[in-house]
This record gives sequence, structure tokens and C-alpha cells, in this order.
Amino acid sequence: MRSVPRQPVASQSDIRSRIPGKMSSILILVGTESGNAQMVADALKPVLETAGHAVDVSDKAASAMDLQAHDVLLVVCATHGSGDIPTNILPLVETLERECPNLSRHRYGVIALGDRSFQDTFCGGGKKVDQVLELCGAQRVGDRLEVDASSQPSPDEEALAWVEGWKNLV
Ligand SMILES: Cc1cc2nc3c(=O)[nH]c(=O)nc-3n(C[C@H](O)[C@H](O)[C@H](O)COP(=O)(O)O)c2cc1C
Repeated sequence: MRSVPRQPVASQSDIRSRIPGKMSSILILVGTESGNAQMVADALKPVLETAGHAVDVSDKAASAMDLQAHDVLLVVCATHGSGDIPTNILPLVETLERECPNLSRHRYGVIALGDRSFQDTFCGGGKKVDQVLELCGAQRVGDRLEVDASSQPSPDEEALAWVEGWKNLV
């Protein structure tokens, strides 16, 4: 009898992300010092809700427990100092790095805010959060958006354009 090549088995998350109109429970994680990332998060929330998702916004999540109620994370994170993570989101990032909890049932997206005039540390905060979530097994959906304050004075405009594609992937 001829053997039939086996098809790869779709994971649960593949199946979920392919169902049109599937509602996700999204937590927007804000890392901010001077309010731009919060402004972006507040602009994205109604867009994601209109697309049918349930959305919460937090600038206080500090552990894996705080992420459990949501299946999708959207990080909106600025960079300060010299490539540093904003202080409000530092406890979460340090805890995830130290404890490396299993976040494999989470999908996530990243919007990194920065300024290209800082060259080597451009968008270092958002890149760092991206790395840590990947380390914990979460699956990134879509490309990371990097918003450059030196060429884009309104970060929410670029983020709103980006989320038009992202909202259909989660
Ligand atoms: C003191 C200071 C340091 C900064 N350092 C960096 C940096 O190292 N790399 C970078 O890409 N952007 C850097 N930025 C730019 C900010 O990330 C950018 O302006 C961002 O939009 C600020 O967002 P927030 O208002 O949510 O904190 C810095 C901004 C300030 C004021």
C-alpha cells in the first residue's frame, strides 16, 4: 500500500488565528515615561474593540499572573535612558526574565516607540520586551512596529495604520 504523506497538524493557536471574526481577549501592555505609549494604547483600544476583540489596557502588569486572563498581548513600549525600559514595565520584564514562565498559549504584538537619533539604542525598550516574551514561549504575530519620533511626531498615526493589519491576524 502506498503511504500518503502526512499533513502537518495545525496547532490550536493556528486554528484560532485562521477563523475569521474570532474574538480575542487582548491586553495592551503600556511601557511609558512621558505618555506617548499610553496615548497610542488609548487610540488602539476602540479600533480593536470595533474589530470584535475584548480589550484591556494596563501600565501596571508585574507578573505572569497578570497576563493569564488574556490570550493576546499587545506591547506598546517606549525607550528611555540609553536603550532602557520604562520604569513602570520594568518589574514585569524582570520577573519574566527571572522566572521564565510558560507563555506558549499567548500570542503577542509589539509597537516599540523610540527615536533614531539615539542610533544604537533605537527602540531598545520594545525590542527587549519582544525578546523576553519570545524567551517565555509566546508567539509573536506580525512584524514589530518601530516608531521613530524624529520623523513621526504623532506615534498614534503609524500605530493606527499598523493595527489595521494586525487586528485581523489575532
Ligand atoms: C531622556 C530620553 C531618553 C531616550 N532614550 C531613547 C533611546 O535610548 N532610544 C530610543 O530609541 N529612544 C529614546 N528616547 C525617545 C523615546 O522613546 C520616545 O520619545 C518615545 O516616544 C517616548 O514615549 P513615552 O512618552 O511613552 O515615554 C528617549 C527619550 C528621552 C526623553
